[in-house]
Amino acid sequence: MPFVYRDGVLCAEQVPLDSIAQRFGTPSYVYSRAAIEGAYREFTAALAGRDAMVCYSVKANSNLAILALLARLGAGFDIVSGGELARVLAAGGDPRKTLFSGVGKSEAEIRLALEKDIGCVNVESEAELERVASIARLLKKRAPVALRVNPDIDARTHPYISTGLQENKFGVAHADAERIYLRAVRMPDLEVVGIGCHIGSLLLDAAPYVAAAERLMVLVDRLEAAGVRLRHIDLGGGIGIRYKEESPEPIAAFVRGALAALGRRGHKLIVDPGRSIVGNAGVLLTRVEYVKPGNTRSFLVVDAAMNDLIRPPLYGAWHEVRPVREAEGAAAATVYDVVGPVCESADFLAKERRIAAREGDLLAILSTGAYGMSMSSNYNSRPRAAEVLVDGQAAHLVRRRETPGELFALERIPA
Ligand code: LLP
Repeated sequence: MPFVYRDGVLCAEQVPLDSIAQRFGTPSYVYSRAAIEGAYREFTAALAGRDAMVCYSVKANSNLAILALLARLGAGFDIVSGGELARVLAAGGDPRKTLFSGVGKSEAEIRLALEKDIGCVNVESEAELERVASIARLLKKRAPVALRVNPDIDARTHPYISTGLQENKFGVAHADAERIYLRAVRMPDLEVVGIGCHIGSLLLDAAPYVAAAERLMVLVDRLEAAGVRLRHIDLGGGIGIRYKEESPEPIAAFVRGALAALGRRGHKLIVDPGRSIVGNAGVLLTRVEYVKPGNTRSFLVVDAAMNDLIRPPLYGAWHEVRPVREAEGAAAATVYDVVGPVCESADFLAKERRIAAREGDLLAILSTGAYGMSMSSNYNSRPRAAEVLVDGQAAHLVRRRETPGELFALERIPA
């Protein structure tokens, strides 16, 4: 466990969180290097001896220090924008081990990706296929492509993060895929290298993941029979983590299911997990500004807000809140809503939690390593949180806090 109490103080690895608050201020995201590496190694261990690649999904947490750490471990990357590609390159990631996903890639983004020798463009429509081909022709390159196929399988997750149903905008329909592949292999500027799918995020059961893999294999076999040779099969990310009392199947169960679906086929297996690598490896450290008792509800007003962590208001997500100093006597505890300073009633981090806390106390919002900082904003002109990466006894500032001046540095008042 990367975050445990030692002598009554919650620590990240060996470092007490109160010392981090003192050095770097609050709100701050704090990540555990060992936890990130451990989760990554769960994938590589389950895939040992197989032709496989783990492409970390950059959108979950795109801090350069985390990307560099994973690049050094040999990870590839799954990106969805030119900005994410720039980050992967800046962190020392290998573009040839990088997959470019997303429904709305611009010409400039595709050009950049091909110039940098991207490993594969995951194409999501026929219009995009044509666009990639015409840019490749201009660059006098052959573009490596895969189709993202929408398997029309219900991931049984939150509708905002479910992606594998026909009603979702993602991928090409399973029924259209063969026809589009037969078109793609005849396009001289394209090199068809693989196939992909991603049915959604926060899957607790391996069953829908494996069902999607099996559906994809049917298509792979049909394509092979039609003379379309593929090198890799990309099953996407989506493996859930524990936020509350859920018990997601372990990473190894998803990987075993995927390998079983692959069977004796000789393709390289690719997975692109995000949350399961960084989610439980991070906490959001915040300080109580005010205790505000009320008649119907009582509030802990803290210095982190929805601009730092939007998951609770956006998805109704539940994140555990822990006092940094272990509560002395739960008798003092009261039921609070934990809210931030932003001017929205949706600005809450947690609701109806029994917590013993006073003004000035530190709280840790758990399991916020994924889709916390990466979805943050500057709403209410709030500088974004600092980010700290802990490694054993060392705490490294991996992103300093923004200053208010930096928030408007790009703005100009017309003369
Ligand atoms: N691959 C593709 C094609 C994806 O669209 C995604 C996530 C992933 C991989 C990584 O999924 P993961 O392993 O992290 O579940 N903001 C939401 C999650 C959105 C996920 C979008 N796509 C949240 O905070 O729960």
